Amino acid sequence: MLSLPFNALLLALSFFGLSTAATTTSSPPASVFTYTNDNGNIGGGNQSFVFALNIDQSTSDVYIHMSAPAGNSWMGVGFGSVMQNSFMFIAYPSSNGTGVTLSPRVATGHSEPSYYKDIHCNLVWEGGLPNSNEVTKEGSASAMYLDAVCHNATKWSNGELNTGASASKTQPMIFAVGPGGHGPSSNLQSDDLSAGLVRHTAYGTFTMDITQALSKDSTTAGVPLPNGGPNNSTYTLSGASTSTPKSDHDPAPAIHGLIMCLSFVIIFPLGALLLRTLNRESLKSHGW
Ligand SMILES: *[C@@H]1O[C@H](CO)[C@@H](O)[C@H](O)[C@H]1NC(C)=O
Ligand SMILES: *[C@@H]1O[C@H](CO)[C@@H](O)[C@H](O)[C@H]1NC(C)=O
Ligand SMILES: *[C@@H]1O[C@H](CO)[C@@H](O)[C@H](O)[C@H]1NC(C)=O
Ligand SMILES: *[C@@H]1O[C@H](CO)[C@@H](O)[C@H](O)[C@H]1NC(C)=O
Ligand SMILES: *[C@@H]1O[C@H](CO)[C@@H](O)[C@H](O)[C@H]1NC(C)=O
Repeated sequence: MLSLPFNALLLALSFFGLSTAATTTSSPPASVFTYTNDNGNIGGGNQSFVFALNIDQSTSDVYIHMSAPAGNSWMGVGFGSVMQNSFMFIAYPSSNGTGVTLSPRVATGHSEPSYYKDIHCNLVWEGGLPNSNEVTKEGSASAMYLDAVCHNATKWSNGELNTGASASKTQPMIFAVGPGGHGPSSNLQSDDLSAGLVRHTAYGTFTMDITQALSKDSTTAGVPLPNGGPNNSTYTLSGASTSTPKSDHDPAPAIHGLIMCLSFVIIFPLGALLLRTLNRESLKSHGW
């Protein structure tokens, strides 16, 4: 008789143990975009850019993992094919240089994206997420890492992401990183959510399968874990297209520079500059 409660306790503990193991090893449903440059020797796991997405349909909370080479002044991803009207996750080193600041931003009209105070984001630290919210400059893990949730973030002042029955399998997305290399432009360190950004010199577009990133409720929602397999902290492409980033510079040197330095970035304001870039590139390729 006396042993029964004890056995019940053991049973309860083992259930607790099992469920703990389950939550730390199974990733929320996710779509994962990765970009790896040709020589790929900069960035976490040698990847130049990673963006992984999970969305809780019940709360519209958006969970993200993002990483880019540590030398870049900022990194960003937005919903939409251009910056205008896009909701963007922009991250940069915090004032102490080793943490990360996440600034949710929206660009209206032709102005550069500004801090969007109506959506609140929190950084996330959790088991299974390596180097969360750190800027690491050591060795092959050298990168800026972001793990975060933005609450109620599928609708903003001038746009909306469909996460219902007609969620897109090819949602247009943009990504960019701020100038890397040397000089003041690569030294952004700030806790200010409205920190000024130096415009990028190149940017990329890709598409994401939103349907693959949806959780019905908070029991399965969260920051996507690395999906590179057992004991592998790498994120691998899943539910997303590949991308060929474009550059704002003269195409040949820029592409060369991109491969050599991984300093690819976007243009602010995108509207006018995107057109300029495309025109210039199409003129060049026409010439060739
Ligand atoms: C990254 O690339 C370098 C050189 O190509 C290689 O030595 C290193 O093992 C790679 N690191 C990872 C984590 O794959
Ligand atoms: C740097 O700042 C971040 C917050 O931005 C904080 O989480 C981290 O602990 C700080 N690191 C050090 C070494 O103080
Ligand atoms: C979510 O945001 C929308 C505006 O985009 C607002 O109308 C709604 O009340 C918010 N929901 C919650 C739970 O805060
Ligand atoms: C981790 O997974 C990635 C992608 O599948 C692979 O390229 C890499 O070699 C793996 N790394 C290790 C250490 O197994
Ligand atoms: C993963 O690592 C753990 C601890 O190092 C080890 O026990 C386990 O066998 C590894 N699993 C695989 C599939 O390599």
